Amino acid sequence: MPEAVAARERAAGPPVLDVRDLKKHFPVRKGLLQRAAGNVFAVDGVSFRIETGETLGLVGESGCGKSTVGRTVLRLIEPTAGAIALGGTDITRLDKTQLRPYRRQMQIIFQDPFSSLDPRMSAGDIVAEPLWVHGLARGAALRKAVAELFERVGLRKAQMDNYPHQFSGGQRQRIGIARALALQPRLIVGDEPVSALDVSIQAQVLNLMLDLQREMELSYLFISHNLAVVEHIAHRIAVMYLGRIVEYTDKRTLFTRPQHPYTEQLLLAVPVPDPRVKRPKRVLQGDVPSPINPPPGCHFHTRCPYAGDRCRVEAPTLREVRPGQSVACHLR
Ligand SMILES: Nc1ncnc2c1ncn2[C@@H]1O[C@H](COP(=O)(O)OP(=O)(O)OP(=O)(O)O)[C@@H](O)[C@H]1O
Ligand code: SF4
Ligand SMILES: [Mg+2]
Repeated sequence: MPEAVAARERAAGPPVLDVRDLKKHFPVRKGLLQRAAGNVFAVDGVSFRIETGETLGLVGESGCGKSTVGRTVLRLIEPTAGAIALGGTDITRLDKTQLRPYRRQMQIIFQDPFSSLDPRMSAGDIVAEPLWVHGLARGAALRKAVAELFERVGLRKAQMDNYPHQFSGGQRQRIGIARALALQPRLIVGDEPVSALDVSIQAQVLNLMLDLQREMELSYLFISHNLAVVEHIAHRIAVMYLGRIVEYTDKRTLFTRPQHPYTEQLLLAVPVPDPRVKRPKRVLQGDVPSPINPPPGCHFHTRCPYAGDRCRVEAPTLREVRPGQSVACHLR
């Protein structure tokens, strides 16, 4: 963990988000009678914490459970097991009314700025809605608050009366960010927030998120399948594979001294800007196994070049192999 983050952790009290052994299993039903036919082990025992002003990057291949973690943490879907604490308060079992003040503190930005904004509402109304719903501003005060949010995310207040289709992809994502900021949250979950944007626009939106983080001491859970994007924005990174975290450390360590075979292979697949550096075209062999019937033992054993007999029967636990670096692998 970087010293700055560690110092903040000591000074700031409980982390903004503390997730312990989170599980989300979706029942699978089959046939006309919809009989229970097993579970999708989408998230299967995930623990992490996010401090004030910190970004945790959550990476992994499609279907490994990243979005399910994000949605469960926000209580948009109910956890099967585990505990979620926001600023030291356990919110796992709070009912809708009890959850209301905590809902304000955590917001989400979605991947697709085209489908996540209501096309029939003006951009100003989209950003105003949360303030209005929570009864925080009305009339001229509401319009002023929305104008300030527009300016904060790099939009002009003259654009408040325009509709989503009149904005570019990057601008729409800025509207999504302004809406997420309206209630002054402590935590924002970004679920692939730049993946649908042109590469040239991605950096602008990431830089905006970095500026806002500094100004407002925001914490981010930043979900992405793209390690290069996560490298730009995250302080710490959790690598997921089939519902579990396999490596969890600070960004620099992850990129320079990865310890899990899966992380190593993900890094080899990241394109390098220097054309003289040759990288294998397809590093990871085979597809991700189904989370309906995950392989026993280490979930990664079907694709791991180092897999041995133990790996096929015994699941490795995530443990600290060096200060600030946790890995789930029998070889470490
Ligand atoms: N509501 C649901 N019912 C049943 N299965 C689900 C549900 N939501 C997600 N899943 C399954 O859970 C697993 C994890 O899905 P999730 O969307 O969290 O993955 P992801 O890492 O976000 O993938 P991607 O990178 O494609 O967005 C997948 O196998 C998915 O099919
Ligand atoms: S536990 Fe075994 S199969 Fe899993 S990553 Fe380590 S060496 Fe590979
Ligand atoms: Mg997803």
